[in-house]
Amino acid sequence: MQIYKVGGAVRDRLLGKPVTDIDWVVVGATTEEMLAKGFRPVGADFPVFLHPKSGEEYALARTERKSGRGYGGFTFHASPEVTLEEDLIRRDLTINAMAEDDQQNLTDPYHGQRDLEARLLRHVSPAFAEDPLRVLRVARFAARYATLGFTVAPETLGLMRELSESGELQALTAERSWKEISRALMEDQPQVFIEVLRECGALKVLMPEVDALFGVPQPEAHHPEIDTGVHTLSVLEQSAQHKQPLTVRWACLLHDLGKGLTPEEEWPRHIAHEHTGLKLIKAVNERFKAPKDCQELALLVGQYHTHGHRALELKPSTLLELLQSFDVYRRPQRFEEFISACEMDARGRKGLEQRSYPQADYLRGAATAARSVAVQPLLEKGFKGPELGEAIKRERLKALKAYKEAASA
Ligand code: CTP
Repeated sequence: MQIYKVGGAVRDRLLGKPVTDIDWVVVGATTEEMLAKGFRPVGADFPVFLHPKSGEEYALARTERKSGRGYGGFTFHASPEVTLEEDLIRRDLTINAMAEDDQQNLTDPYHGQRDLEARLLRHVSPAFAEDPLRVLRVARFAARYATLGFTVAPETLGLMRELSESGELQALTAERSWKEISRALMEDQPQVFIEVLRECGALKVLMPEVDALFGVPQPEAHHPEIDTGVHTLSVLEQSAQHKQPLTVRWACLLHDLGKGLTPEEEWPRHIAHEHTGLKLIKAVNERFKAPKDCQELALLVGQYHTHGHRALELKPSTLLELLQSFDVYRRPQRFEEFISACEMDARGRKGLEQRSYPQADYLRGAATAARSVAVQPLLEKGFKGPELGEAIKRERLKALKAYKEAASA
């Protein structure tokens, strides 16, 4: 049997990037031989094994054929006769279809190295179309390697467009899509992920609510970039530049969905978009079964981001309502993430990226003031049940009034 390093490990070594996961392909072996060497099978009927010591994945060389819609619809053929070239041709991109032996000799029948140099994400063969998830994968790689100057080859973009129009993307499971989306959002240039999806027509299928934001104007005085889609991409870009966590990046992507629903006669204003957007945010959240913390933050940021921007003008009672809605007393981190998302929103405007955002510290201070109200003295005064709740709220309101006065003095 011959063993080769394949996929991302080869690609990233040639790019001079750190290699985290190594995938191996085994040519000329049978399942029985692998088991005899102590490899552990990963699934009951998939020719993938874990190394007894390193735990790395070793897959028998295989060919694949699509037999139906979606991911389940695959038949594959693994046998000692399948060659390395046959295994590599079923892979997604030329830069992912190179193999290397233990002497670092490269097998590169589909010119991955040439495409690495040309900075091109290019599909290996028409078999690309057999897994619609690859549309998202290519957009994710584009986001990851944009800084290095990579773009999607026009013919690959064409194939991605055909896949998007074919209805195949709807067959993807929420779990597989979310895995790609969440990884893409954590890349250095997550806005490129959305741009590429939009360019090939996949955004319209996967997130029509985000796609609808392009071409929707906002008032130039607040938004020099005018277009809501362009603004959303800039907010996402800022979230990556400021190394925000996934929750914040997801909220940034979805915060303005309501603006896509504004009747054209009302443009460029978007009255109550915070409210109208909620059902859209909920729909996108549920479509991809986003984790609970991402779902929650996206909804809260959607509903309250304008409050964040107007923090310094808010009445103490409105500030209190805001803090209560976030349950800032038990969930301080979530409020901190809300503040970050608001700041990214403010910075995601053309020419205003560097402007300071005093609202952030003001909101933090308000949270501290409200949290500083001690419950014990109220208990000692005999308050209990709903009355205790009301008393705490009164004290918090007092604290916020004092905070606002002190801040504006
Ligand atoms: N692959 C593919 N089509 C897919 C998934 C994976 O062709 N839908 C192939 C590619 O050759 C890829 C390899 O399997 O390089 C390993 O896949 P994976 O570990 O998901 O990705 P990596 O390329 O290693 O990239 P990453 O750095 O994102 O993990």
